[in-house]
Amino acid sequence: MVRFFGSDPLSTASRSRVPVPAKSSRAAPARPTLEGPRVTLRAPIPTDKQDRLAHGRDPEFRRMAGGDPATSPPLTPDEVDSWYEGLRRDPLQWVIEAEGRCIGTARLRHVDVGNRSATYAIGIFHPRFWSRGYGTEATLAVLGHAFGKMGLHRVALRVLEFNRRAIACYEKCGFVREGIQRDGVRIGGEWLSEVLMAILDHEYRSRVPR
Ligand SMILES: CC(C)(COP(=O)(O)OP(=O)(O)OC[C@H]1O[C@@H](n2cnc3c(N)ncnc32)[C@H](O)[C@@H]1OP(=O)(O)O)[C@@H](O)C(=O)NCCC(=O)NCCS
Repeated sequence: MVRFFGSDPLSTASRSRVPVPAKSSRAAPARPTLEGPRVTLRAPIPTDKQDRLAHGRDPEFRRMAGGDPATSPPLTPDEVDSWYEGLRRDPLQWVIEAEGRCIGTARLRHVDVGNRSATYAIGIFHPRFWSRGYGTEATLAVLGHAFGKMGLHRVALRVLEFNRRAIACYEKCGFVREGIQRDGVRIGGEWLSEVLMAILDHEYRSRVPR
């Protein structure tokens, strides 16, 4: 199973959480469309499935997201169907659209109402869309929603220490390194460390004036 870094819970079990109803059979609540200069973050539409399948399962993406690239079978239409269903039902997960197609997803998870915090994760599926500023634009759009309408105080994430591109992207968005979890995960027989990062509402506001 791919462990999607940036999406793991960072808060303790004793805190009150409002879980996102990802498995609910009811119609999903509307999610706002978020805009960046070149990206649109929106609810999924059926053509996203073709885009997702065309991007395939890139081994480097898998490695950066915490999977074992040695076990990287081709992505199947069934997997894409479940990916799409998960997206459709999760009002805090957005398709990142750029250049007229779905290039990835971004999501908030583990919303903790009492502490006004959440965790963040993002993935752009194909390397041809990396290092072109799309990740930064998408992340800033989600943070705008998190610290705006949602009224959060803190958004946190975990990222594998070797994932320098992701760390650079998060730092550009204002995330601060808070620590490192040494040998926190074992992937393909290798111990790997994770960097813990977070951004607070006033840090976001000082970076992006209202
Ligand atoms: C992480 C990810 C979302 C970032 O999005 P992106 O569009 O590629 O990032 P951006 O272009 O906005 O910013 C990346 C920055 O890192 C820099 N960078 C690229 N490779 C780098 C490296 N090896 N070391 C340091 N910086 C690097 C880029 O130059 C860019 O900085 P710049 O704009 O100052 O030139 C995207 O690359 C991705 O989805 N990767 C695969 C999955 C993944 O890693 N997910 C995150 C798991 S925590």
